[in-house]
Amino acid sequence: MTMSKNLAPIPELYVSYDSAQKMKFEAAELVSLDLSPRQICDLELLMNGGFYPLKGFLGEEDYNGVVENMRLADGALWPMPITLDVKAAFADSIELDQDIALRDQEGVILATMTVTDKWVPDKAKEAQMVFGADDDAHPAVNYLHNSAGEVYLGGPITGIQQPVHYDFRARRDTPNELRAYFRKLGWRKVVAFQTRNPLHRAHQELTFRAARESEANLLLHPVVGMTKPGDVDHFTRVRCYEAVLDKYPASTTTMSLLPLAMRMAGPREALWHGLIRKNHGCTHFIVGRDHAGPGKNSAGEDFYGPYEAQDLFKEHEAEMGIEMVPFKHMVYVQERAQYEPNDEIADKETVTILNISGTELRRRLSEGLEIPDWFSFPEVVSELRKTKPPRSKQGFTVFFTGFSGSGKSTIANALMTKLMEMGGRPVTLLDGDIVRKNLSSELGFSKEHRDLNILRIGYVASEITKNGGIAICAPIAPYATTRRKVREGIEEYGAFVEVHVATALEECERRDRKGLYKMAREGKIKEFTGISDPYDVPANPELRVETEGTDVDNCAHQVVLKLEAMGLIAGH
Ligand code: PPS
Repeated sequence: MTMSKNLAPIPELYVSYDSAQKMKFEAAELVSLDLSPRQICDLELLMNGGFYPLKGFLGEEDYNGVVENMRLADGALWPMPITLDVKAAFADSIELDQDIALRDQEGVILATMTVTDKWVPDKAKEAQMVFGADDDAHPAVNYLHNSAGEVYLGGPITGIQQPVHYDFRARRDTPNELRAYFRKLGWRKVVAFQTRNPLHRAHQELTFRAARESEANLLLHPVVGMTKPGDVDHFTRVRCYEAVLDKYPASTTTMSLLPLAMRMAGPREALWHGLIRKNHGCTHFIVGRDHAGPGKNSAGEDFYGPYEAQDLFKEHEAEMGIEMVPFKHMVYVQERAQYEPNDEIADKETVTILNISGTELRRRLSEGLEIPDWFSFPEVVSELRKTKPPRSKQGFTVFFTGFSGSGKSTIANALMTKLMEMGGRPVTLLDGDIVRKNLSSELGFSKEHRDLNILRIGYVASEITKNGGIAICAPIAPYATTRRKVREGIEEYGAFVEVHVATALEECERRDRKGLYKMAREGKIKEFTGISDPYDVPANPELRVETEGTDVDNCAHQVVLKLEAMGLIAGH
């Protein structure tokens, strides 16, 4: 019996082990390019056959065909431009037909590429045609305009070695490894489920139903390369998936991790995902409602219609050689204590249908509220709670800003003491004067130096916040744009509470606790904030405290009340 087509080995771009050893030395002589995380993901799937029939990063003719009508120059269907973007200066230094070495971020040589094409792409056109809109609210369009280099290089790849992964090695498989696994187990039909989110009971039900209906085995094939910014990190997700894997009947289902960098391109992305799964030996692919949707555009509307991905897939299904299994919307029917496809429930009027939306789930997690067993598996909920504890257990930063002598340090100290009395999280005070003695001892008060000082404070505070502590910062921080940068860095990990200590300049000068205002007036201190240097009053701080006529204790108490209102501290 001949081996079915989906299980025969697929071509890879790697050279043999011996040649690779030799090439590593030879490639050290070549001009090299350090790849971005996204390019490394792309390269891995190019080399291992995940992006078959591509033989390298796209050349100009293939690129134009893919952008304009989803086809390579030879007519093969390929919906996503896989391009090697570089800076103009690097492109200028490269001749056509030159070999370059592609390295990972530690400098390990992964492949060489013969540059056959070099061109400046029309990014606005690429955005419009591939992602449906030239709108930076789309993560891939944002990447295209704000991260990707100006010039594309194209050409065939010679693979030397796979990118190194230290995590979940046993769960990572190349297309040929998966094909061999399916062969070994006699899995003729395999339905793949693509995901970038944790799996809950509804997903488990629908995936297993899909496998049953197509009389196939099931491959959970989650993306661990790059997903949508803000998604649950892949370490947590994989631990969740492992818990769910145990819920499927033994030997029906397996899981493998896919190092794909998603683009969130909806319909085109669905086709791309299908082709990638076909390359991994799958015969069927589940396509959901709003598959790989990027969320709302800058006008607040969805980028793609909810069933556009399914429609486009259907159109190309025969040519692709992988069958679509449309996702069923599963809901929980309380009276029967089971999940059922929403459109198959005949007695909707008389039964109770339960559902928890993604937004509601996030709210419950962030507030530490109950997540019922009918919605998710306790093991999954406990993993999610570990990664995303309720806000009252997460790290955060309180950032005081205001004139010298406004009372920032005094209030910050009082706040620190109150928070330490409450206990539960470590507290660090990054006071202006203390920071300037330690972190920033070489800096002065020019705009450049002040910015550097504030960014350093912001970096330390973001690390503290990330690790679950409380950072209290109390510099002058006169520039709004710099404060915003600090906010963005911290909000990745926890809350940023900006407190404007709004003591008027006249009052600060009247108090003149350090005698600095007098010296500034006399011109003995240059660039003094408020006197001879600017201060941007915060437009929308989380809190503004007036210190005139209010004692320190009360000012600190106002901050505590604000923290409580934001859910950052809670009674027990
Ligand atoms: S900044 O702008 O945020 O980097 O300033 P910061 O690190 O908070 O440092 C402010 C403290 O340094 C003293 N000092 C000056 N402040 C403002 N302008 C000038 N030119 C200056 N020279 C010295 C001053 O004591 C500030 O302390 P605070 O605690 O704010 O009174």
